[in-house]
Amino acid sequence: MTISVVQGARFSAIKGIGGYRPRRVVDNAEICTMIDSSDEWIQTRSGIKERRWAGEDETIQMMSVSAARKAIERAGLEPAQIDTVIVSTVTHLYQTPAVAATIASELGATGAAAFDISAACAGFCYGTAMADSLVRTGTSKYVLVIGVERLSDITDPHDRSTAFIFADGAGAAVVGPSDTPGIGPVVWGSDGDQAALITQNEPWDVAMADEAHWPVLQMNGNPVFKWASYTMAKAAAEAMDAAGISPDQLEVFVPHQANMRITDAMFRALKLPQGVIVARDIARQGNTSAASIPLAIEALLESGEARSGQTCLIIGFGAGLVYAGQVIALP
Ligand SMILES: CC(C)(COP(=O)(O)OP(=O)(O)OC[C@H]1O[C@@H](n2cnc3c(N)ncnc32)[C@H](O)[C@@H]1OP(=O)(O)O)[C@@H](O)C(=O)NCCC(=O)NCCS
Repeated sequence: MTISVVQGARFSAIKGIGGYRPRRVVDNAEICTMIDSSDEWIQTRSGIKERRWAGEDETIQMMSVSAARKAIERAGLEPAQIDTVIVSTVTHLYQTPAVAATIASELGATGAAAFDISAACAGFCYGTAMADSLVRTGTSKYVLVIGVERLSDITDPHDRSTAFIFADGAGAAVVGPSDTPGIGPVVWGSDGDQAALITQNEPWDVAMADEAHWPVLQMNGNPVFKWASYTMAKAAAEAMDAAGISPDQLEVFVPHQANMRITDAMFRALKLPQGVIVARDIARQGNTSAASIPLAIEALLESGEARSGQTCLIIGFGAGLVYAGQVIALP
């Protein structure tokens, strides 16, 4: 007896991308009312000028649906054509059910397979890798990948090592079949030995034992900075090699928006030509974890700095530690 299998499209690509940026802009002056810092220090050390923090109504669900509607429309599809929804988030405060299922329902992607993943700031690239495989194996035709965070919910506004960095937002992409290759091989991995560098400070059961506690993120920024600047540049180079793209063929570079200095260090390490367009969305958006790459891509496309069809390297890295990167064609 032989088990029947399905086969999908030869290639996949991102068909449309959309974002949601919360209404409230929080500038460095406001941050400095809560931590001992300065606008100059924050800008020099991180490149961040302002970030956005979600209001009460700007929930994980609401921001995701809003970003996803744009991505689906830009892909020229109807929500009912989406057959799988993958949501990457570390700030959906329900342990269960997965927010992907209620997002699918609200969108009208009725009956779609739906699940959440936890890959922190690498989440969008993890989700894109999975979507690529699902489309090419024929498991799904159109996969919606969402990166969404309300990091302000789990950030201590008085902690000077995190308060100025983390922010809120959502980004979404639709991955579907393509006549030409649109998503290169993923280069991904993890290093759990360094898990303590970025982590929730205590688990929920410990926090619940004392009402005054609310778990927050803690980060040992300096070693993360070094890991991101050097090890991640190597992973990014491997992703370009795997896709057969040399630095002089690359047109756009969208690393996770963690720190402008990390972006600059990676740019130098990768020996990218000066003409390559580099995402610098962190200046206005802060670090939105899984949402940062799709938000940055949307900003480059909307401003006209980058255009559809260009060859773009994306790489996400963060808590875990985990990372993932691939070369894509911009939608
Ligand atoms: C957080 C980060 C911006 C800090 O920059 P840094 O250059 O590493 O700074 P350090 O922690 O070494 O601190 C340098 C000095 O600034 C001070 N400092 C720390 N936070 C400060 C703040 N918010 N405002 C003013 N001064 C601050 C420190 O006390 C230290 O002072 P000292 O030299 O007198 O001891 C940087 O480490 C970073 O971006 N790390 C990676 C973040 C990241 O990628 N996160 C995850 C991926 S999700």
